[in-house]
Amino acid sequence: MIDDALLEPLMDRAVGLAERGGGATAPNPMVGCVIAAPDGRVLGEGFHLRAGENHAEVEALAAVRAAGRDPRGTVAVVTLEPCARQGRTPPCVDALVAAGIREVVFGVEDPHTGKGGAQRLREAGIEVRGGVRERAIRLLIEPWLHFVRTGRPLMHLKSAVTLNGRLTRGWGGPRWITGEDARRAVHRLRRRHTAVVIGIGTALADDPLLTVRDWPPPRALGGDADPPWPRIQPLRVVLDTELRLPVGSRLATSVAEGPVLVLCAERADREREGALASQGVEVERVGSPAGRLDLGEVAAALARRGVTGALVEPGPALAAGLIAAGLADRWTVFVAPVWEPSDDALPLVLANGTPVELEDPVWESHGSDASVSGRVR
Ligand SMILES: NC(=O)c1ccc[n+]([C@@H]2O[C@H](COP(=O)([O-])OP(=O)(O)OC[C@H]3O[C@@H](n4cnc5c(N)ncnc54)[C@H](OP(=O)(O)O)[C@@H]3O)[C@@H](O)[C@H]2O)c1
Repeated sequence: MIDDALLEPLMDRAVGLAERGGGATAPNPMVGCVIAAPDGRVLGEGFHLRAGENHAEVEALAAVRAAGRDPRGTVAVVTLEPCARQGRTPPCVDALVAAGIREVVFGVEDPHTGKGGAQRLREAGIEVRGGVRERAIRLLIEPWLHFVRTGRPLMHLKSAVTLNGRLTRGWGGPRWITGEDARRAVHRLRRRHTAVVIGIGTALADDPLLTVRDWPPPRALGGDADPPWPRIQPLRVVLDTELRLPVGSRLATSVAEGPVLVLCAERADREREGALASQGVEVERVGSPAGRLDLGEVAAALARRGVTGALVEPGPALAAGLIAAGLADRWTVFVAPVWEPSDDALPLVLANGTPVELEDPVWESHGSDASVSGRVR
């Protein structure tokens, strides 16, 4: 059995590889794999890039062979229990058994009950251990785990506030609340989700682009030998009841950088839809029985597109709507050490009477700012 002291750095490496796939792996999870010699030397590594393409284990085995090495008698360290079923690609357990792998160490069990990847490996005489770095991996693949369990995307709210809980600065104040490090962390979060969602209030006020630009930073996670981070962009989504998104907005004119979807009510302006569609923006109509979009239908529309997780960057109105609808699953709030005295500055959430507590909170610092992230209860 590979020594624990060798194992954890190898699993950390596999987690870093998994993240390279980002939200583009949906409806599959991000998975990373390292194949190592029993003394801990890395022989090959790989990650899952997108559904229909090789799984991480198969990529890592191919890398070992491409380097002219033999995977027999080695250890596979993989973030998720290897799959035992024929999907769009053959089962990974078969590839591991055929390669003569001696030991498999994984992080998180496959929640598809009864699929039994670990069991199949044991039956083939391979030593198997699970649960290594499980907490960190569960957090990384939370959208997928949530989607498998509930059939709807994880809605992860992200907000940035002042010390007194203001979402904006007063009239004429600086555009950003947080500093560069926190903004880079937001770009990293965007990349980890299949979609980024805003309300039309924010689209009109800020004219944002919502692309991933500041992640990965140059030479992220190590040296030149690292595999590159594929360029991926989330689906950018605007919740826009009356279809007010300007045809000249940065979102509507940047489809070449990544797809844009506007969800609107049945009654919304058909002419505007035509103008947006002619620029490549997709428009879909969803129910709005109470005037504004039914957020359950919004989630279902995203699920139909294979979105397992959405990073929602809400203003006070959309945050209130999601919380009231019970559709806020995780909330990450960045806090900057500034006090905003202006009465014009908006609150984090429009008062809606629903108390919120964050479960299992994780606090982090980002330069001079901090963040707290937890599951919404
Ligand atoms: N600091 C931060 O982290 C941060 C993040 C985001 C935004 N902001 C700020 O927040 C401000 C905008 O906030 P906002 O409250 O006006 O707008 P918002 O929350 O961005 O968008 C709200 C709009 O979304 C549409 N919507 C459709 N269905 C909805 C539903 N079921 N529930 C709620 N909204 C729904 C509605 O448009 P209709 O009215 O047309 O129905 C609603 O007015 C901007 O100043 C922006 O800078 C700050």
